Amino acid sequence: MPGFRYSPSAGGSGPARLREILGRASRPGVISFAIGMPAAELLPARQLAAAQQQVLPGNTAALQYGLPSVALKRQIVELMAERQVACGEDQVFLTSGAQQGMDLVARLFLGPGDTALMEDTVYDGIRLAAGRLTERLITVPTDTAAGIDVDAVASCLAAGAQPRLLYTIPNGHNPLGVTLSAARRQQLIALARRHELPVLEDDAYGALHYDGAPPPPLRALDPDWALYLGSFSKILAPSLRAGWLVVPEEMVSRLSPLKHGADLDTPSLSHHVVSAYLAAGHLAEHVARLRAEYRTRRDTMLACLAEHLPGELRWTRPGGGMFIWVELPPALDAADLLEEAIAGERVAFCPGAAFAVGESARARHGFRLCFATCTPEQIADGIHRLGRAVERALERVGVL
Ligand SMILES: Cc1ncc(COP(=O)(O)O)c(C=O)c1O
Repeated sequence: MPGFRYSPSAGGSGPARLREILGRASRPGVISFAIGMPAAELLPARQLAAAQQQVLPGNTAALQYGLPSVALKRQIVELMAERQVACGEDQVFLTSGAQQGMDLVARLFLGPGDTALMEDTVYDGIRLAAGRLTERLITVPTDTAAGIDVDAVASCLAAGAQPRLLYTIPNGHNPLGVTLSAARRQQLIALARRHELPVLEDDAYGALHYDGAPPPPLRALDPDWALYLGSFSKILAPSLRAGWLVVPEEMVSRLSPLKHGADLDTPSLSHHVVSAYLAAGHLAEHVARLRAEYRTRRDTMLACLAEHLPGELRWTRPGGGMFIWVELPPALDAADLLEEAIAGERVAFCPGAAFAVGESARARHGFRLCFATCTPEQIADGIHRLGRAVERALERVGVL
């Protein structure tokens, strides 16, 4: 291998052991709850094909370099109004997926020596985006019943921390499954105002709720300090790479050159297709179908966990999103369990270490199950297998 002198900010290639185990999780015959993928059979392929037919061949702008789709921005303004967020097209910034939105916002606020504040167990995309800009990622815990620990945020700020950005996932948290309570939303926004702290709320899962709608987004409470991040990945299809930010208008002109340097243009064809799909009026019915189906899958997984997992384990009951978080006794490491589960039972999950920002005991002894991807029959089979793997592992460490 040539001796490339990589930039230190490029980071490593991630924990090798985790990559290797998760590679094995995708082999044929393994029932995998490891990845947060929408159910393939629920992707609206026919309607998206019809939308694409409508866009092409007539609309060559969809194949050109060009300005972001104004029609899609308008439709997003309407979607936001349904969520009680008042905004105009000038505050909507289209991105190539939510991941690009968080990357751009991170670059807007963070540089070497700056501090970013986030939960200690959280979607790894923010750690990857912020962590290559600054080494100073400080963390707070999350309460699996009510969301990010706002008192811990307050203590951090009172102790003199001066974060430039706070990131959180208020609805259907990835990986913990929790939805932030209305009271904590109010407290968090009060802190953001008092400390002039931008809060990036990642709402990738906001439309996927199963026990009634979550409280209004942070952006509905404060149009200055709350920056909203949305995505069509989980409600339409991840490959469309269609996401958006809702931010103060002045920020849009700062985001544009950053995006230009990253990928020049939004994927115009897919954004035009999303717009045609929305104009045809399909979204509400599709999301209602996803909610009904994912609710069944969540309930199936919860019932199977209760039936097959020993009493030493605890897990969350998510009201939204795609994930259940399982906590193991401290004697058991989730990455060890995963190796045993794949080898012995051909079932996989995502160990908490994948979501750890720094040292996190919760992440080492916990794991994430995605209930959206597999059918109820696969879920029943897979959780039965998981139960057997857990029992053997508990016996090994002398807990059973
Ligand atoms: C919390 C969260 N935010 C953002 C993303 C990335 O979304 P997108 O496909 O829109 O980039 C994911 C994907 O799993 C996610 O879980």
